[in-house]
Amino acid sequence: MSVLTTIEEIRAKARDGLAEVRNDAELETWRVAVMGRKSPLMSALRSLGKLGPEERKEAGRAANLLKTQLDQALEEKRETLGRARIEETETAGRIDVTLPARPLPEGRLHPVTQTQRDIVDAFVAQGFSVIEGPEVELEYYNFEALRIPADHPARELMDTFYIDRSGDTDSKLLLRTHTSPNQIRFMENNDPPVRIICPGRTYRNEATDPSHEWMITQTEVLAVDEGLTLAHLKGTLFELAKRLFGRDRKVRFRCDFFRFVEPGVDMAIDCFLCGGKGCRTCKKEGWIEILGAGMVHPEILANMGYDPDIYTGFAAGLGVERIAMLRYGVDDIRHFYENDLRFLRQF
Ligand code: PHE
Repeated sequence: MSVLTTIEEIRAKARDGLAEVRNDAELETWRVAVMGRKSPLMSALRSLGKLGPEERKEAGRAANLLKTQLDQALEEKRETLGRARIEETETAGRIDVTLPARPLPEGRLHPVTQTQRDIVDAFVAQGFSVIEGPEVELEYYNFEALRIPADHPARELMDTFYIDRSGDTDSKLLLRTHTSPNQIRFMENNDPPVRIICPGRTYRNEATDPSHEWMITQTEVLAVDEGLTLAHLKGTLFELAKRLFGRDRKVRFRCDFFRFVEPGVDMAIDCFLCGGKGCRTCKKEGWIEILGAGMVHPEILANMGYDPDIYTGFAAGLGVERIAMLRYGVDDIRHFYENDLRFLRQF
């Protein structure tokens, strides 16, 4: 077989092989096979010496030409592969500006927090200031100072979580059962006139049901000044009810009893679910109580150094969850603290 034929065969094989090359590694394998020291082309070049002068000239030219062509083909392929690689990374990182934006997850306020803030706003608009007090409270502020001494039956109305401080009997600690201790804390340190509200969490060892939880949010209201009457109390709370529920909602006041007020009242709103007919949520009453209130007991005013012949006051304690239930039509208070996102996302 002549050298020229061999060279033609090498050329054809090399061309086919190169067409299959898809990356740099394959290209290197191809180069070694086609132009490496042990390649057929190199042995052909080495064998030229054995040929006669005429034949050697012709075959030499052909072999060298092939070598140049293969070098060139190698360079071209290398460039093509490089360009393909760049294009690929560019396409992968390309941004499609016409794609619609993905929605960002959006946080929001808990329905009880929203209601709490609206309540605060309603009182701030009427000239009240916001104060806060401790959730872990001394028994004295939660009970004694509010005319609820130890062993008094009124204590049984509030099943209390005590904090165990074994052996230490002087100052019992408890989780406050209402926000009323802040009335005492404030009056101890401030002279009249007083106009404060105190929002916060309160705790009672309650069996839970659709309208009771062992932790609820209250907002305490206290106003003390010369000449305040039950009419001021009603006017202030009507204004709150109007702001929160609109003018159409019915409001009911009834006599109630709390040791620290005289007289005492409670305020209820007609049930949002049954419209007053009576259902599971309002316990067949048609009304949902949202707050206790009354005129501050003169004995408490006197204990705080306020002259009860000059000053009178009114106080109220609002149940924020109950109010949120009425506003949003939530039929079970326990939904608020189960942290079920399907519930919370609705507000
Ligand atoms: N602290 C009372 C309660 O939680 C409510 C209340 C507050 C009643 C202020 C009268 C005056 O039951």
